[in-house]
Amino acid sequence: MTQWKAICRVEDIPRLGARRVQRPAGGAVAIFRNADDQVFALLDRCPHKGGPLSQGIVFGTSVACPLHNWTIGLDDGCAREPDHGCTPRFTVKIDDGQVYLDVEELDTLALDEVKAAA
Ligand code: FES
Repeated sequence: MTQWKAICRVEDIPRLGARRVQRPAGGAVAIFRNADDQVFALLDRCPHKGGPLSQGIVFGTSVACPLHNWTIGLDDGCAREPDHGCTPRFTVKIDDGQVYLDVEELDTLALDEVKAAA
């Protein structure tokens, strides 16, 4: 059974922006909120050259990377054509305005990639 960790409330995430969640094991997670108050979570690392996606601008269901302006889909973490590559996506649960992330994903997801990039 999935264990969930309460992170923040939806309104704590800037609309069209993101909030950064540090993980003890490394590799922060970026939690995004779009204009429709949908919430998405990705590893805070662009699949291009590791730019901080949490500092990008959200539009629709995408974020523009602040470094070289690649468009990354928030629903799948993947770069839009003509660019390639994906960044890991984290499962988000919203319950009564509270944002939760999966504890196991926080502890384990994409740690190899983070170490390889360090
Ligand atoms: S690092 Fe994100 S577009 Fe280059």
